[in-house]
Amino acid sequence: MRGITILGLGGVLLAQTFAPVALAEDLTGDPAAGRKKAGLCRTCHGIEGLAKIPIAPHIGGENPNYIMHQLTAFREGTRVHEMMSVVARGLDDQSIADLAAWYSSQEVHASLAPGKTDDMAPEACVACHGADGLARIEDAPNLAGENAIYIDTQLKAFRTGKRTHPVMSEIAAGLSDTDIRTVAEWYAATRIEIAPVK
Ligand code: HEC
Ligand code: HEC
Repeated sequence: MRGITILGLGGVLLAQTFAPVALAEDLTGDPAAGRKKAGLCRTCHGIEGLAKIPIAPHIGGENPNYIMHQLTAFREGTRVHEMMSVVARGLDDQSIADLAAWYSSQEVHASLAPGKTDDMAPEACVACHGADGLARIEDAPNLAGENAIYIDTQLKAFRTGKRTHPVMSEIAAGLSDTDIRTVAEWYAATRIEIAPVK
């Protein structure tokens, strides 16, 4: 059983790791074209990537490869969500590259909640997600200012295997519900600003 599970996971990882890279090599995203296409996203993510509904994440200022990777995963079915799977199914590779170019061109700033200092941040997360929730490595997303429910949902999805990633699945497996609530509240409390569209 264990062997089968690992093999299955390997297949998913392969798809997730290589599909967006191929996409990035073949296509250059055009932010202006992406801005037009972002009309499809604005009710939930805003035009500039600051989320408009509590269950949607902020996507402005994320790394373009992360955005492409996730849109591809929703389209291919390796990440599933009732809204995003439908949205992503309608996107071709060029649209994904354009949307990623647009949203990643936004500038994001984060600051700790009043009274909080870096050394109070969740130790297990800061190397990749920062104390303030701005990603420190290329393939990690920002967590700053995300709704606690969103963070909670994603960590539980990694823990149950509904969403998979070599690093995050492993990390989430070691978190209790209480740990999840604590880290979700930390990052949700961070203040975020995304530079308005000129
Ligand atoms: C009806 C609301 C809705 C619309 C419209 C929508 N999204 Fe989403 N999006 C969501 C929700 C909700 C999630 C969180 C999914 C989950 O919980 O896994 C999400 C997740 C994402 C993510 C993953 C972000 C992360 O941090 O992992 C990306 C990227 C994204 N959306 C891009 C887009 C783009 C680009 C469009 C327009 C083409 C779009 N979305 C349209 C609701 C929406
Ligand atoms: C070694 C680097 C690393 C560490 C440490 C790490 N993460 Fe992550 N995290 C990632 C990467 C990479 C992703 C993107 C996963 C994907 O592509 O699906 C991610 C994704 C996430 C997401 C999904 C966010 C979104 O926008 O959908 C959450 C939530 C998250 N991490 C929380 C945490 C928490 C909480 C900790 C500490 C307990 C932590 N991570 C530690 C690398 C890391």
